[in-house]
Amino acid sequence: MTYASWKLDSEYMALIEDLLQCEEVQNLQSITHHHFSTRLEHSLSVSYTSYKIAKKLNLNDRSIARAGLLHDFFHEDRESFAAAYEGYSHASHHPHVALQNAKLLTELTELECDIIVKHMWLASPACIRTLPKFKESYIVTMVDKYCATKEVLTPLPKLIKTNVQYKAKNVWNRLKLANASS
Ligand SMILES: [Fe+2]
Ligand SMILES: [Fe+2]
Repeated sequence: MTYASWKLDSEYMALIEDLLQCEEVQNLQSITHHHFSTRLEHSLSVSYTSYKIAKKLNLNDRSIARAGLLHDFFHEDRESFAAAYEGYSHASHHPHVALQNAKLLTELTELECDIIVKHMWLASPACIRTLPKFKESYIVTMVDKYCATKEVLTPLPKLIKTNVQYKAKNVWNRLKLANASS
């Protein structure tokens, strides 16, 4: 998904516009998520990709778009999450925090609650038994894993190339200096 593709989709935008305008949702833009993206970018990727699949399969595209956008709706980074929810695992507890936050923001159907609270299914041993109840929930949990993997892996080749170029330049400069002083 390109950054602009969801913005240009007026049908999709109409489903999430009210949520996207909320300050609390916009604040997700300031939180790093999966190392190289923001939590808002990740949430939009999951929401829009799941929405496109739901449309193709004739499922509830409205609920999947809205709950997909709110599936990681919490404002703590890993460190502050550990401090705020001491004793709870980040993997299994953040869906519950996201659900509570989402309920304060908008009305949620049973399907939307299930999408949010079960999105970590299979992602950690504690989440294996929390079986999703709806087809839409299975789509979001799978799309979440796909987007997370893509977000982590896509920038890596460029980072490795930059790092190798930087090191090669350093070695080259040292060789030049050594030659000049000999
Ligand atoms: Fe999550
Ligand atoms: Fe996620």
